[in-house]
Amino acid sequence: MWLGHFPRAWATGRASRQEAPMTTDEPYRPPALNRVAVHSGWSRQARLVRRVPRRFTDVAFRAAGPLEQENWNLERADWHASLPFVRTTQAESVLAEMNELISSNRQPVDEAKPAILLNGFAGYGKSALIKECLYDLHRRHARKREGASARGSRPIDVVHISARAATSERSIAERLRDFLELPRSGRSAGEITARVIDALFECGVKVVAIDELHFVGQSAAVGRRLSNYIKDLINSSPSTFVFAGNNVLDSEIFTSDRGRPDAAGEQFLSLTSIRDIEPFSIAQRDDVWMRTLIAIEESLRLTKLQQGDLFWNCADIMWGMTGGRWRSLTRVVNLACARAIATGTERITPELIASIPVDALAMEHAAKYMPALGDGTWTSLPRDVDL
Ligand SMILES: Nc1ncnc2c1ncn2[C@@H]1O[C@H](COP(=O)(O)OP(=O)(O)OP(=O)(O)O)[C@@H](O)[C@H]1O
Ligand SMILES: [Mg+2]
Repeated sequence: MWLGHFPRAWATGRASRQEAPMTTDEPYRPPALNRVAVHSGWSRQARLVRRVPRRFTDVAFRAAGPLEQENWNLERADWHASLPFVRTTQAESVLAEMNELISSNRQPVDEAKPAILLNGFAGYGKSALIKECLYDLHRRHARKREGASARGSRPIDVVHISARAATSERSIAERLRDFLELPRSGRSAGEITARVIDALFECGVKVVAIDELHFVGQSAAVGRRLSNYIKDLINSSPSTFVFAGNNVLDSEIFTSDRGRPDAAGEQFLSLTSIRDIEPFSIAQRDDVWMRTLIAIEESLRLTKLQQGDLFWNCADIMWGMTGGRWRSLTRVVNLACARAIATGTERITPELIASIPVDALAMEHAAKYMPALGDGTWTSLPRDVDL
């Protein structure tokens, strides 16, 4: 692994990243645990302002009292477990596409509105993109409403459910009903759905997001029924639909027994633009991977961290161990920070990263790339970095 000095331009070229606005030395209190399956909890979560942990140098940290140290350790453990969203090039363009769709979907209610589906494998960052888009939309609308007198039904901008383990129209309808916090009445899927659609109109719901759509396509018969059901939902509601799922196009939601989309699948597809979500890649040797590591390194709170520890010295090993998959990346960073804190080394090094077990998702990738780490056959460093 190349451990030389990195060009100055990299040290200053931060990837754009959402900054939480507050930093204070008040004692840290972990945020409340909101139930995001219902609108009241979801909207509290969306409005949560996370405070940015202060930075301690090694000297200042050692001089702090045990209570203060314990408090900061708790705060940085929470912080490292859920680092701020990084606006990569892909994230920027997907968020722009989603926002454009939502704001341009102003067709009259008797016309179905186009939908979007984020399609990609596990851990590529689909749910994070949906949350970023929906939380932002909710916060903007909540701000607009501040001070305005409440009229009619409670405004709900966003409905956000997961189709995890849903195997019937009824289970999807119940999740929508529960998110909207409607009374648990209605026996059939049809009755519940009718109430849900009434509520979408009354509350002025702008977006309905259904995540983990692949769960509804686990058999051809269920997949066909549910694609029909969701197509009807899109047709009869006033909202824009946003979906995400793992490789949904090949699942039974869209394919008939003959392997081609059936009529319902085709109608669903004709309403939906598919946006493939990709992992990081080093094939082009562009600067996206490194800029992302720069943004992550900026967020870390380790008292002896040196500039370039992560984005330069560990760029290749991080790529070898994660395959450029967001879930593996955030897991390795979080575990590495926890170890650096527990052992007092307070730095990220290639040796520390190498000591973290590779997760099951990244196993195949790591078996291919890790044996050749540092032997010059591949690198994640961008082309314009002079090696
Ligand atoms: N742009 C980003 N910035 C910071 N963290 C991210 C970003 N994208 C994803 N993550 C983090 O990576 C992890 C995995 O992402 P996410 O859950 O969105 O993947 P997914 O594609 O929805 O996976 P699955 O298909 O299993 O549901 C999460 O902890 C998420 O917060
Ligand atoms: Mg997800």
